[in-house]
Amino acid sequence: MAEERPSKRRVMHAVIPAAGLGTRFLPATKATPKEMLPVVDKPAIQYVVEEAVAAGLANVLVVTGRNKRPLEDHFDRNYELESTLTRKGDADRLQLVQHATSLAHLHFVRQGDPRGLGHAVSCARAHVGRSPFAVLLGDDLIDPRDPLLSTMISVHEATGQSVIALMEVPPNQIPLYGCAAVGPAPLAAAAAFENRGSGCDAVAVTGLVEKPTAEEAPSNLAVIGRYVLHPRVFDVLEHTAPGRGGEIQLTDALATLAGLDPAEGGGVLGVIFRGRRYDTGDRLDYLKTVVTLACEREDLARPLLAWLADFVASRADEDGQGSL
Ligand code: UTP
Repeated sequence: MAEERPSKRRVMHAVIPAAGLGTRFLPATKATPKEMLPVVDKPAIQYVVEEAVAAGLANVLVVTGRNKRPLEDHFDRNYELESTLTRKGDADRLQLVQHATSLAHLHFVRQGDPRGLGHAVSCARAHVGRSPFAVLLGDDLIDPRDPLLSTMISVHEATGQSVIALMEVPPNQIPLYGCAAVGPAPLAAAAAFENRGSGCDAVAVTGLVEKPTAEEAPSNLAVIGRYVLHPRVFDVLEHTAPGRGGEIQLTDALATLAGLDPAEGGGVLGVIFRGRRYDTGDRLDYLKTVVTLACEREDLARPLLAWLADFVASRADEDGQGSL
């Protein structure tokens, strides 16, 4: 098969899977998707949509599950609220409310049963068609100062191969993630990094394992929630059997894709990310994310840090007395 034209490598769509059960956050996620949990004053998914738009992807498809209403409502107009804020002359809050509506061209598709991340991605097929697309997990936040997604898009556009984001993690955390076996990247991928100053590295992905034990893990490189995928992945997903946890795993499909000929849409590259990532799908990491991002806000940083210092000191006193 002839190599595809570079124009066919243009990434136009972002897909955000948000149909998982969020069991680690029950009961908060009983009637609300975890992607709607507030991080300071915005739901997690809004940060993710903003990231997609900042990388040039204003066409966003959200894969929703049984609790889709709050997600759709958040990005929709709320005339009653807007007219109340207008009447009160609260222009700042009005702007905040309207910003979510005008942010992107949002589309929604229903997953039905949450049969795994791979299945959620395959639900995007009719929308995305035969073009490459980005997948951003709705509970994984990347700091806007670290342009991971646009770096991944450049690597895809330079090589035509699928690109996944990897992060070095300590061995005890590897069983929480997909893990990649890697080798040297092709020259075109390395060239795509030139002049970007992103602090990332490119590698070729030679194998992938979902949530291995520390002994089984082929490296300390964990797959994190950003992907730029060749549409060939849809054919592979169609033939991917349920894997770990009985779910159709995106990692399994990518392991197959990594072994296919790049001239036929195969091949997977990795971008090793060394920037700031915030996980909001796990309770402890969620709490750390909220505190970290609140400390970045001008109006909250000082009073929050002062309170935290007092709080930690008082807890240390209490613990000290308790141990006497
Ligand atoms: P997770 O495994 O972190 O989400 O999936 P989960 O299953 O909702 O969470 P826990 O483990 O039960 O707490 C990663 C992403 O994939 C989406 C989730 O919404 C999350 O953004 N997902 C997962 C789907 O959209 N559909 C699925 O069937 C599974």
